Amino acid sequence: MLILGIETSCDETAIAILEKNKQGISVRSNIVSSQIALHAAWGGVVPNLAAREHLKNIIPVLNSALEEAKIKPSAIDLIAVTQGPGLIPALLIGTNFAKTLSYLWKKPLLAINHIEGHIYANFIASINKSKDKSQTKTNPSIAGTKINFPILTLVVSGGHTQIVLMEKHLKYKIVGETQDDAVGEAFDKVARILGLGYPGGPIISAQADNFKSQISNLKSNPDNLNHDDKKLTKKNTKKPLFPRPMLHSSDFNFSFSGLKTSVLYYVKKYRETNNLTESEKLPLKFIREIAYEFEEAATDVLVIKTIKAALRYNPKTIFLAGGVSANSNLREKLKKSIEKNIPQVKYILQSITYSTDNASMIAAAAIFRWDKMTDQQKKEALTTWKTLQANAQLRI
Ligand code: KG4
Ligand code: ZN
Repeated sequence: MLILGIETSCDETAIAILEKNKQGISVRSNIVSSQIALHAAWGGVVPNLAAREHLKNIIPVLNSALEEAKIKPSAIDLIAVTQGPGLIPALLIGTNFAKTLSYLWKKPLLAINHIEGHIYANFIASINKSKDKSQTKTNPSIAGTKINFPILTLVVSGGHTQIVLMEKHLKYKIVGETQDDAVGEAFDKVARILGLGYPGGPIISAQADNFKSQISNLKSNPDNLNHDDKKLTKKNTKKPLFPRPMLHSSDFNFSFSGLKTSVLYYVKKYRETNNLTESEKLPLKFIREIAYEFEEAATDVLVIKTIKAALRYNPKTIFLAGGVSANSNLREKLKKSIEKNIPQVKYILQSITYSTDNASMIAAAAIFRWDKMTDQQKKEALTTWKTLQANAQLRI
């Protein structure tokens, strides 16, 4: 069975083709055309610009996906598209494109929730006994492993921060979520406060890593330290700069808006003390330290709350999903904490290729939806193009 996935909920025009056969699921092509360069100039995604770019790119992206997979449209068995949540002008391009293809090619069409897609990205890595060697290499421990329910997923993206419990396929219970900003949004805002580019997540992550290597370099040369360096090397024993919001609340909810504001005030105060105007660049050393401190605060809360939720709901498997799951500190911290506190739980870590927005995850979710459908429902999917509507606020 060949499944065509389409994703246009934000700033990536993505189309993928997955194949499902007796051996499992493999990714035949996974094309992502990113608009980062375009939106970077505006400091964030501009919905109408995103829509225009999707419109321009979607046919070339489809052609590349078909070419790379070496298949003709007639061979496609199922089309899947992101219905929401996301930016409505962007979603409309993908959904209308998918509806048109379904009508013209006479193929069934399924609407997929973007967050459901992020969760199901974890199944790609696990069941893909792939031709793609790089993927098996990044995930040697899980290639071909059976995934057991209940599954608890920490969903961390630009628009969402949720802990989702699944007792079985396609059944979701949100057991905790952010009360204000999503964690990816906080990464992006902190990057802006520090005068770094967009999207902030990868930049903050790189600067935090730089800070850590700077500290370990200093520690390996203890004889040549100046006063500032000495202060820095003592950092691990120092009180953290920023709060861990809602860490001790009895629920599994999050809040990142206060953390972002703490960073804002700290940077403001630093500018005042050092006579730096708003437009003047902050010193790199300071940027790295703040990036590190912010990332530590955010990832501490995410990890501790996930472990608490796991202790309460006893999952057999834990997934990490969404764009922020590309963060190496978060990936590693959650791994260590699971090994220490709940070693009986299996931690599935997908390849970074499928962490940020892509269409393979949409096709993967569709495979599981299709499997659960009756023959009648499968027939009805041939006319989904008549009724499917994009929904910016869709919830799982
Ligand atoms: O899932 P995603 O690609 O799009 C949404 O559904 O929102 O997530 C995008 C978010 C952005 O906020 C971006 O800054 C963040 O994921 N992100 C990261 C990293 N890579 C992407 N955050 C932290 N560390 C990263 N390495
Ligand atoms: Zn996403």
